[in-house]
Amino acid sequence: MNVVSLAQMLEFSQKGDERGHLVVVEGMEDVPFDIKRIFYIYGSDPDVVRGQHANRESEFVLINVAGTSKVKVKDGKGNEAVYSLNRPHTGVYLPRMIWKDMYDFSEDSVLLCLASTHYDGNEYIRDYDEFVKIVNNQNS
Ligand code: TYD
Repeated sequence: MNVVSLAQMLEFSQKGDERGHLVVVEGMEDVPFDIKRIFYIYGSDPDVVRGQHANRESEFVLINVAGTSKVKVKDGKGNEAVYSLNRPHTGVYLPRMIWKDMYDFSEDSVLLCLASTHYDGNEYIRDYDEFVKIVNNQNS
């Protein structure tokens, strides 16, 4: 299974009217998991790279509710993809066990992250070489 192919852009419906826009994201409806946690990232300089980890358990959807950023994902087996987050009604779904780097943050970037789990630092893999070994079954 190529986890990079499981990552995908999602488009949420906009319920806009003359008063402005409204976007709804419901767990198990608009994203493929129950949302247990949200966090958001802002004030990151354009030359900062965040993420740089994989998660054994958590699935995420990332949405730039303001501004723009990019997300590069890798499976540790040579497959990778880059997603541009540049509209508040689109997001990218990231499955478990995928390496992710977030970068190219615009000054006004507010990156909303929806997660399928409560926070547990122990499920993070923060060393890329270790991640490569794990996904290639050289270690566990
Ligand atoms: P980190 O995972 O380094 O952020 P990013 O994914 O953007 O690179 O998290 C930064 C700090 O915040 C780190 O000390 C862990 C903490 N943190 C929580 O306590 N709960 C959370 O849900 C998240 C995502 C991070």
